[in-house]
Amino acid sequence: MKKFYLTTAIDYVNGQPHLGHTYEKVLADTIARYHRLKNEDVHFLTGVDEHGQKVQQKAQSEGVEPQLFCDQMAQKFVDLTHVLNLSNDDFVRTTQERHKRVVRLALQKLYDQGLIYKAEYRGFYSVKEERFLQDKDRIHGEWPTLFGEVKEIVENNYFFKLSAYQDWLIAFLNENTDFVLPQFRQKQVLEFLKEPLNDLCISRPQERLQWGIPLPFDAQFITYVWFDALLNYVSAVGYGQKEFANYWPADLHVIGKDILVPAHAVYWPIMLKALDIPLPKHLLVHGWWLTSGEKLSKSLGNAFDLFEWLQSYGTDAARYFLLREMVTGQDCEFSIENFIGRYNHELANEWGNLVSRTFNMLQRYCQSRVPVVHSDSIASENLQMHWGETHKSVFESFDNFLFSQGLEKLFKFIRELNRFVENQAPWKLSKTGNSKDQYILENTLAFLVEGIRLCAQILQVIIPESSAKILKALQVSRTTDFTWNTSLLQGALIADPLLLFPKK
Ligand code: MSP
Repeated sequence: MKKFYLTTAIDYVNGQPHLGHTYEKVLADTIARYHRLKNEDVHFLTGVDEHGQKVQQKAQSEGVEPQLFCDQMAQKFVDLTHVLNLSNDDFVRTTQERHKRVVRLALQKLYDQGLIYKAEYRGFYSVKEERFLQDKDRIHGEWPTLFGEVKEIVENNYFFKLSAYQDWLIAFLNENTDFVLPQFRQKQVLEFLKEPLNDLCISRPQERLQWGIPLPFDAQFITYVWFDALLNYVSAVGYGQKEFANYWPADLHVIGKDILVPAHAVYWPIMLKALDIPLPKHLLVHGWWLTSGEKLSKSLGNAFDLFEWLQSYGTDAARYFLLREMVTGQDCEFSIENFIGRYNHELANEWGNLVSRTFNMLQRYCQSRVPVVHSDSIASENLQMHWGETHKSVFESFDNFLFSQGLEKLFKFIRELNRFVENQAPWKLSKTGNSKDQYILENTLAFLVEGIRLCAQILQVIIPESSAKILKALQVSRTTDFTWNTSLLQGALIADPLLLFPKK
């Protein structure tokens, strides 16, 4: 059976992992976990993008071989997958032989079909920055001084016949209106396609770039950027081999808005079409984390240490905040104050406190066992009904990748559980010595445990570590049953009270 195959962008190794990378990987991980929760067979891929001039220069400036430099940097991104508790099934590196083999195979195939040709390439080149500039780099028609001397260079290069597929791509997008999600992003792609496409320059001469994959039909040239990077999505799942059919077409590529147009929405579909490979089902495009309105990548750099942040507050807290604060698809300003606010208010006071007080009361009033529900005592109809609505509507949000909205709905239910405790006041009931009150108390706790079980089962996809602790303490073995059922855990002996999110 074909797997649900989802991928992330592969990160450049010329800089340290940052919060932008972190968010994207957590978003993709949550989607992967959510599909597993729905009993789907998931394959989740992430990885790093290692070739190119910047890496070559960085390695040179540090006096190490590019491969060694990449090995060291790639390790930091692998470490991040562990720290973030990602459930990825694979980690692709573009320096791996399995990847290089596929890049050569794809290039050769296109060359044999006459879709790659050699021609003169003209461009403005910054000697200082060692790169070609684009018209958009000009300010009021002039090259800013930061580029130093700018020369017009003419050199031979290889080109891919992108332009031949423009009409096909427009027709495809018009027929598949949800190819790019959220849908407003697809409109941007169509807007971009109103201008005629140029063919894509896919190489750089060896003299200027060595760190990359040589073209299989002309080793004097190195594959340039996108023809290398984009192919990771097929190289990692065995393109050219029988197993490929178990994964492809990908169900979802999760990417940031900066690499949608033209890379993922124009080059990639056209490359696939030309290679006669089916297109992925969807691209999910997220926005940027900003600081003072600017894209946050290195800007947060000095004041903020990502790994330290994750360590001091815990991965779950960070994962929760990133998904709760940002509306998928839109930009969002990052602030530590907002993070601490949500941590204390939602994770510590609302959720953590509900769990710890319930466990405490079970220990104190019920010898740590989940009580049996007494039918002649208070009923849980309201909670049961609200759970039914909450469950349906949270799943609806998650199905549409709206995790922030889904969490908001789930926390509304958590607040209802907290109100329920206050109203029932088990600590008062325990004092009366009246058997009816004891029944009410026991029912109250049984309902709370059931509410916590169900919420924790959903929260597994967002905050897996703490949710697993709760489910383990409750001895829940099957975590995919979402129907309100107060007899499911009755009699279970539960572990000691849990302190999940200590207040900061
Ligand atoms: N290597 C390319 C992607 C190739 S995919 C075949 C690349 N790398 S990157 O390291 O610059 O970015 C990796 C991902 O992180 C991109 O999807 C990018 O949008 C995302 N982010 C980088 N900074 C970001 C924010 N400030 N906020 C959210 N995500 C952003 O592009």
